[in-house]
Amino acid sequence: MLEQIAFTTKSIREKTSNFIPSVGIILGTGLGGLVKEISVEFTIPYGEIPHFPVSTVSGHQGKLILGELGGKKVIAMQGRFHFYEGYTMEQIGFPVRIMKALGVKSLFVSNACGGMNPDFEVGEIMFINDHINLFPTNPLIGKNYDELGPRFPDMGATYNKQYIQLAKKIASEHNIKTSEGVYAGLTGPCFETPAEYRYLRRIGADVVGMSTVPEVIVARHSGMEVFGISIVTDLGVEGKVQTVTHEEVLHVAGIQEPKMSLIVKELIRQINP
Ligand code: HPA
Repeated sequence: MLEQIAFTTKSIREKTSNFIPSVGIILGTGLGGLVKEISVEFTIPYGEIPHFPVSTVSGHQGKLILGELGGKKVIAMQGRFHFYEGYTMEQIGFPVRIMKALGVKSLFVSNACGGMNPDFEVGEIMFINDHINLFPTNPLIGKNYDELGPRFPDMGATYNKQYIQLAKKIASEHNIKTSEGVYAGLTGPCFETPAEYRYLRRIGADVVGMSTVPEVIVARHSGMEVFGISIVTDLGVEGKVQTVTHEEVLHVAGIQEPKMSLIVKELIRQINP
């Protein structure tokens, strides 16, 4: 693992004239448009990065984008790896390890999700203030490399509170309605049954999705600050559960995407990673 991280990091440095990013971004559903805002300096397809997972879905090549956004040097993953696609937790966490090794101090993640909080509406933009790991595993299972982080990392302050406060301020300055809440991460690929949404609400989750938690665990293990933002694309509220399709998820995320991009870009401008 350590050798792989070192080898991949060296390879990326060679391809990017030693570009040192301070902010990492995982562009989930709904944040893809943020790429347009990045002054791109280097683009590397995942297939050209040693030890990087190779996408199994044709047409979804995925690439790393390095450049400037909000006055900061950023590295963005266009295309993320989901557990339901068959990647191992180690593979899903690997790009975060590489970001850290390249110099990243703060990680920004986005996703689309279902909302169980009865106050939420379709299109709601939610800042993640905590999560519940409902994957049947954890990316830190196995040998711990003390060079990468502690065996038993504390998760008490996983989502940076100061970032959330700044993001709220930015949103209100732009008249964007947002909320805060808990993200439950589980495997998918099925959307939830009504009983599962009810269960998720009862255990304290506001939204549910199929990503984010593994990457965030690795980021915290490696000492990064984390900011997470979700778009509620459908409701799993008791009595209001409707049929969910992937197309609908993409549609709603697409409508809200410019707002989400604006908040993230401004937040990156204002932080000091
Ligand atoms: N459940 C899980 N993941 C999702 C959902 C959902 O309802 N909507 C978008 N991603």
